[in-house]
Amino acid sequence: MRNPHNILVTGGCGFIGSNFIRHLLARPDFSGRIVNVDALTYAGNPLSLEDIAAAHPDRYRFLHADICDAPKMTALIAQEQPDTVVHFAAESHVDRSISGPAAFIRTNLVGTFTLLEAARAAWKDRTDVLFHHISTDEVYGSLGSTGRFLETTAYDPRSPYSASKAGSDHLVSAYHHTYGLPVTISNCSNNYGPYQFPEKLIPLMILNLREGKPLPVYGDGGNIRDWLHVADHCAAIGEIIARGRVGETYNIGGDNEWKNIDIVHLLCDIMAEITGKARAEYTRLITFVADRPGHDRRYAIDCEKIKGELGWRPTPDFRALLTATVRWYLDNPAWIESVRTGEYRRWIDTHYGGR
Ligand code: NAD
Ligand code: TYD
Repeated sequence: MRNPHNILVTGGCGFIGSNFIRHLLARPDFSGRIVNVDALTYAGNPLSLEDIAAAHPDRYRFLHADICDAPKMTALIAQEQPDTVVHFAAESHVDRSISGPAAFIRTNLVGTFTLLEAARAAWKDRTDVLFHHISTDEVYGSLGSTGRFLETTAYDPRSPYSASKAGSDHLVSAYHHTYGLPVTISNCSNNYGPYQFPEKLIPLMILNLREGKPLPVYGDGGNIRDWLHVADHCAAIGEIIARGRVGETYNIGGDNEWKNIDIVHLLCDIMAEITGKARAEYTRLITFVADRPGHDRRYAIDCEKIKGELGWRPTPDFRALLTATVRWYLDNPAWIESVRTGEYRRWIDTHYGGR
């Protein structure tokens, strides 16, 4: 059992990273400190952690920096001597990787390499440290109507995003085998929950429902994803960094497969329930649009390994968790407006000189 108490989080101003920092600081068994390094790209929103920064000035520090900046990363890890790195920072949206892959190669591959080098230089032969890398089930490719991804499933990435994540996973693994760097990797399914940038399916649909805008469903809507609540994901990462076996990969999923069109219908049901409006007011917004090029048909995760080894389980009641997620977006107009209007970018420009 490890006792992580000096944690370097990368990409902590993004969706999952900000939820993870909240999760850690709320855990009664965590009394340590966190340094969050984030470049504040379009997806990084420091307002997501404004209350955390104010409440924990001694235990939380933010550093505005790019993980591809080798001198900065080397100096940071050498100075802070974290016992644990939890690496979230990435370009994360498949559609953007199709229209502009360069940023994905840079951050996901070169950035991960830069961090691994900095950790190797600072940690030397220490064995009481851990580099935990966050990855995706998309590295395993696309499934037909049966089967699930295991940790041993061969990699078969199909988008520039998943290829860049697959490459970063291989680098992390190689640093373990070649240099003995203590690492763990987790590959998770699609996350949903609060603070997600509204370019991904669920927050995009919620905001469009709220504003009466079309709900764009790619192709025939029959593509299948496995949905994992971000709080369950954060709890799983907490278990891995405390008790995961070094050198291992853990799949994290929600045991919760849905066709995209069924998710959109469920969101319409939930909105109708919350607002009291007729369901048809929402379903009439559903609009089938051109499919994503190379759109993976189905992802499904087998997460028996983490359940068996670490006793972690996803929370079962999807409808309740999705309803709470819809309510969060409806109840947090200030966060949404800051993202929608770009207000948070102006805030970043004032505080950090933009990027
Ligand atoms: P996100 O896009 O919401 O956040 C990414 C964060 O990384 C942002 O704060 C951004 O500013 C920061 N960042 C980007 N480039 C950087 C750079 N060069 N240097 C420093 N910081 C940089 O992403 P997310 O949804 O929170 O995903 C986090 C991790 O989880 C990623 O590694 C992603 O591949 C993985 N993942 C996400 C999902 C999902 O459903 N969201 C599923 C599986 C895996
Ligand atoms: P997304 O949230 O982009 O995650 P990923 O591509 O990493 O799985 O998309 C989830 C699914 O929803 C995917 O099959 C694409 C589909 N989708 C739509 O149908 N419409 C949309 O507007 C978006 C953003 C996604």
